[in-house]
Amino acid sequence: MQDYWFIREGFEARIEEYLADAPEVEVDLEFEVLEKDFNSAGKGSSETKNLLKRLGVESEILRRVAVAAYEAEINVAAHSRGGKMTSEVYDDHIHIRFEDSGPGIENIDQAMVPGYSTADELVRELGFGAGLGLPNIKKNCDAMHIRSAKDSPTLLEFIIYFG
Ligand SMILES: Nc1ncnc2c1ncn2[C@@H]1O[C@H](COP(=O)(O)OP(=O)(O)OP(=O)(O)O)[C@@H](O)[C@H]1O
Ligand SMILES: [Mg+2]
Repeated sequence: MQDYWFIREGFEARIEEYLADAPEVEVDLEFEVLEKDFNSAGKGSSETKNLLKRLGVESEILRRVAVAAYEAEINVAAHSRGGKMTSEVYDDHIHIRFEDSGPGIENIDQAMVPGYSTADELVRELGFGAGLGLPNIKKNCDAMHIRSAKDSPTLLEFIIYFG
């Protein structure tokens, strides 16, 4: 089992405090992401964005949440047998989790390299498979964690602060 962590500079203390003792969640949403269902993949990210918009979150944060969540949702549809997305909204941040049922990522450091992709023909025909989704998630979030292994489920979670 491999664990990959990214924490944006300046966010270490906040993330550590939150992970050690998470406050009560204010709102949470759950979505199912089905294998190769590119019509529904994207629903979770757009509904999450709409919820944050109603809560008054500023547009640049909405954009970052939508981009990161969309890439992760598409990855579950494109590369796994399906899974679920959970959006947890707190007072000052959102924590989004994607848990799928495998087949897992054999080498996470390699998967993080821009341009690396194992996308199949169908996925490429739909315009995905540039190998830029995971780097794009990293670029847009304040903290990111991936736990996976070959022939295992994958967990990808990220956190974005509202200000
Ligand atoms: N949930 C997942 N399960 C299994 N493998 C994954 C998962 N998410 C990503 N990967 C692996 O990591 C690689 C890189 O992912 P990334 O999102 O960066 O690129 P991509 O999905 O191939 O292309 P793009 O996102 O640009 O359309 C994928 O090609 C795949 O091998
Ligand atoms: Mg991708």
